[in-house]
Amino acid sequence: MFSNVLFWDIAPYVTLAVLIVGTWWRYRYDKFGWTSRSSQSYESRLLRIGSPIFHFGILAVFAGHVMGLLIPPRVTHWLHVSDYAYHLQAVIAGSIAGAAALAGIGLLIYRRFTRPAVSAATTRGDKVMYVVLVLAIVVGLYCDLIGTGPHGGEFHYRYTVGLWFRRIWLLQPHGEVMINAPWDYQLHALIGMVLFTLWPFTRLVHAFSAPIAYLFRPYIVYRSRAVAANGEMVGAAAPRKGW
Ligand code: HEM
Repeated sequence: MFSNVLFWDIAPYVTLAVLIVGTWWRYRYDKFGWTSRSSQSYESRLLRIGSPIFHFGILAVFAGHVMGLLIPPRVTHWLHVSDYAYHLQAVIAGSIAGAAALAGIGLLIYRRFTRPAVSAATTRGDKVMYVVLVLAIVVGLYCDLIGTGPHGGEFHYRYTVGLWFRRIWLLQPHGEVMINAPWDYQLHALIGMVLFTLWPFTRLVHAFSAPIAYLFRPYIVYRSRAVAANGEMVGAAAPRKGW
């Protein structure tokens, strides 16, 4: 079927091409715009709660995807991990990570639209990106939790979605395996591809330049105490020792 070839054999390569060329283009022509466009100076209380919950959650989701999509089942069989045990840990760990990512992004979006200064710094591109990002997370969680029921309790996506995903990188597209994946898994993969094509043109590019240590770095000091020309101390607070 043509739609099958289009969605599962052609679309992944279009996605990769847009992601790679788009990222290069963005870096080449918008180096100074390559930023998360932090809004911390407009509001920091909700950001301090929502941002780490979202980022730690999505990092765990990413690790789960690497494990589930890139590692073939024969490796886990070799390690004496049954499909049932694999599925169980994937659903438990995945749901916790996905729920954290959803709660975090929910709080960040709430903040974005209830704090006027943050809203004013929000572009149309940000809004589109939020919609696609939230859809990817919600449908992923649906696959994990609700979708698991109607599929007979356990759907072993590694034999369909995982196989399809690995073949893309081997330049041996094998889209027909996706016909055997339930609709929610297909929808989730399609939304994922849409998100990756938007990636280079949004604030998400900051993910490519965020070193891991970024998560544990000291706070950025936005204002420090300084001595004005007349000798008076100005600034918000005295600098603290350490970080
Ligand atoms: C083409 C790309 C993608 C593929 C093939 C894919 C595949 C999958 C699969 C198979 C599951 C279900 C895991 C299970 O049933 O145990 C899942 C879950 C999930 N996905 Fe994706 N995904 C993709 C992209 C994304 C993106 C871009 C996001 C968000 C930024 C995302 C977020 C999630 C979340 C939150 C879950 C539920 C928690 C979890 O199991 O990790 N996915 N994904």
